[in-house]
Amino acid sequence: MIQEARRLSTVEEYYFSKKLREVRSLVAKGKPIINMGIGSPDLKPSKVVIEALQTSMNDASAHQYQSYQGLPELRAAISEFYVKYFGVALDPENEILPLMGSKEGIMHISMAFLNEGDEVLIPDPGYPTYTSVTKLLGAIPVYYDLTEENAWLPDLDALEQQDLSKVKIMWLNYPHMPTGTKGGINLFEKLVAFAKKHQILLVNDNPYSFVLNDEPESILSVNGAKDVALELNSLSKTFNMAGWRIGMVLGNQRNLNAILKVKSNMDSGMFYGIQKGAVQALNSVGDWFVNINETYRRRRALIYQLCEILDCTYDKDTVGMFIWAKLSSNRVSAEKFIDDILYDKDIFITPGTVFGKNGEGYIRFSLCVTEEKIKEAINRF
Ligand SMILES: Cc1ncc(COP(=O)(O)O)c(C=O)c1O
Repeated sequence: MIQEARRLSTVEEYYFSKKLREVRSLVAKGKPIINMGIGSPDLKPSKVVIEALQTSMNDASAHQYQSYQGLPELRAAISEFYVKYFGVALDPENEILPLMGSKEGIMHISMAFLNEGDEVLIPDPGYPTYTSVTKLLGAIPVYYDLTEENAWLPDLDALEQQDLSKVKIMWLNYPHMPTGTKGGINLFEKLVAFAKKHQILLVNDNPYSFVLNDEPESILSVNGAKDVALELNSLSKTFNMAGWRIGMVLGNQRNLNAILKVKSNMDSGMFYGIQKGAVQALNSVGDWFVNINETYRRRRALIYQLCEILDCTYDKDTVGMFIWAKLSSNRVSAEKFIDDILYDKDIFITPGTVFGKNGEGYIRFSLCVTEEKIKEAINRF
């Protein structure tokens, strides 16, 4: 038997990878499962995006290895998109690095900047990948609490009381998954000042900025942010291209070069057709956000009804692809609550504990479910 590397004992298989296997096995047994757990857009990318991929297949270089830094026209399209929607100027030559989804960027950034034993500030609740990547690299997760009492925002005064001397990276994610909290420029300004004071690399993971949100914001719009901050963004949720795997990291040239050093040793460029589709998506927004958000708004209204049936409370002043709902009774654990619903009603919802200890007592509904299915879920109760 070949022994696995010791680093594997620091992590478990991703919750969704395990749970969705169970959900699939229930489906295979004929259970009519409604999956409200996962944030994988069920709506299609726009027609012109699909056509751009299709027609690009006959281009001379379509099937060759591609540049590690992406097509120049993709970087130009990202640059124009960031000026238009975030008011942020980025040099397409050296301040933009396209990625195969932002998830791989979490690993690349961590590999580029963390040494074993470095500490990493991670939001609780937050996206589980920040923790697993940190552990895989032998660095140490240090959680900062996000609580309803503090409007799901970091308590910088509390952080100032901690020994931050070993902290190298702080993960941020506004609009926040799973709570849908917006963040705001004021918060970003404070965080940039905090990062400068303590020499911490701030990374804002920003894939939800256009879902049910009229005021997209980038941390890079703060004066001097590029000195200490990177931003991850992605076409997964913004353009319904989650399976295409396309995202980006943005920041100063020095930091991006460090990330490129990792990335260029790990892959051989992104598939040409995907890049051409992405260019089309970024260049032809038009009414795209208005239209997809109309669908999400109708779904959200139905999920609110479901929350009420389940005696859960929720905050309407949130954005993004999920509804974060609070269970009425703190006697039941979130995991028990969702397992009961999975086995009794054939409905899968995500327990808040997947995102950290502060997720106990909460559950997360995805908006990637058709109105018909949400109505059916309501009927099952
Ligand atoms: C907070 C957060 N960051 C990053 C990702 C990864 O997105 P991508 O598809 O760009 O890799 C997700 C996906 O669910 C997410 O919720």
